[in-house]
Amino acid sequence: MTHHSKPVAAAADKPRVRPYLDFYQQEAISPVAQDIGNLDRHFQRREALYRHLGIVPALIEGRSVIEFGPGSGHNALFTASLKPARYLLVDGNSVGIAECRDLLTAHTRRGNVSVEQALLEEFETDERFDVVLCEGVLSWQFDPVHLLRRISRFAKPGGVVVITCMDTMGFLAEALRRFASAVLMKPEATPAENLAHLTRVFGPHLATIKGMSRSHEHWVQDNLLFPYYGRPFPIDAAIKAIDAEFEVYGASPQFLSDVRWYKTIHGDERRYNERALSAYWQNIHNHLDGRSVTGPRPEAANQALRAECDAVFELQEDYRRTREPSILKVALARLQTITAMVGEFSDVTAASLADFTDAMQKGFPGTVPDFGRFTPWFGMGQQYVSFLRRGRA
Ligand SMILES: C[S@@+](CC[C@H](N)C(=O)[O-])C[C@H]1O[C@@H](n2cnc3c(N)ncnc32)[C@H](O)[C@@H]1O
Repeated sequence: MTHHSKPVAAAADKPRVRPYLDFYQQEAISPVAQDIGNLDRHFQRREALYRHLGIVPALIEGRSVIEFGPGSGHNALFTASLKPARYLLVDGNSVGIAECRDLLTAHTRRGNVSVEQALLEEFETDERFDVVLCEGVLSWQFDPVHLLRRISRFAKPGGVVVITCMDTMGFLAEALRRFASAVLMKPEATPAENLAHLTRVFGPHLATIKGMSRSHEHWVQDNLLFPYYGRPFPIDAAIKAIDAEFEVYGASPQFLSDVRWYKTIHGDERRYNERALSAYWQNIHNHLDGRSVTGPRPEAANQALRAECDAVFELQEDYRRTREPSILKVALARLQTITAMVGEFSDVTAASLADFTDAMQKGFPGTVPDFGRFTPWFGMGQQYVSFLRRGRA
């Protein structure tokens, strides 16, 4: 099994900032609010996610839960509603912490929820928890493997760890919007002007998302303006990082299936992580485009496709830093390779890619550029995985 992306860039050639935290603190924002105007619908979405991950209500009620990086706490509301005996939330951003405290106080009257400001790198406790949650935090970190190992230690044997992962396949549509943003942003403009311009340009794209639960400004801040210093953290890297102590338990999207007769599953035959890795590679093409879901493909074909997506992601980051026109040219040529590969299983995605390449080649002459069939294309940006800690409490 090969993975061709470059390793996370050495700290020496990157500014020493902490992903998310420093950007959020510098701008005094926590751009992760969810629309909870219809709380029932919000809870139903969270319930659907937890169901995929194997987190039934009884796994939370009366249990201990720790959550790292809850942000403003909108998702935490659902977890709190399942009545854990203890719910500790840890985040490094003072703005998010304050919003999280206010939101949870307004919605829950129970004294079992505590919110603590601390860095994932530094938080310490001897307590071990039934459930450890860490959503939307590990990708883009300089050393996600270290952070995952660190936070997963707080799970009891037999406990569950839930994380989100990202790969450049699910992120390709976003990487291309970041690419276009780098062309569209004016270096002399203020951040507020760039935010307003990009929100205008990409508003029609975001308007096509069914069930969009975030404001367009937050989305632009978090996806297009946010400086991604690290790399996406894909599921295969996460599984390998904690393979010694954890086994994959569930996933969303739910790409795992196990049709083996349970009596055959013991000893060396269990191979949960190995099978999860294989299922991940066979289904990863479905992360590319939420509109197109097809059956499994050969692992090697999907690995080759992800390698191309890795390369375009790197070129996009290089272009953002340097604005070197030759990088743009190379990237557009690689996009044609990707378009041909994608055409084997998704016409709608291939058409989106072709129109994006076309728009970039024309160079955005109008005030609000026309991205054609690229406009409604969004990937399955985040994937969730739950792990069981080996052993018994
Ligand atoms: C993208 S937000 C995710 C928020 C929420 N979990 C969600 O999924 O909507 C990432 C959160 O992780 C926090 N965070 C990121 N890196 C951190 C670190 N090293 N230590 C503590 N908190 C961190 C940020 O402050 C932010 O609230």
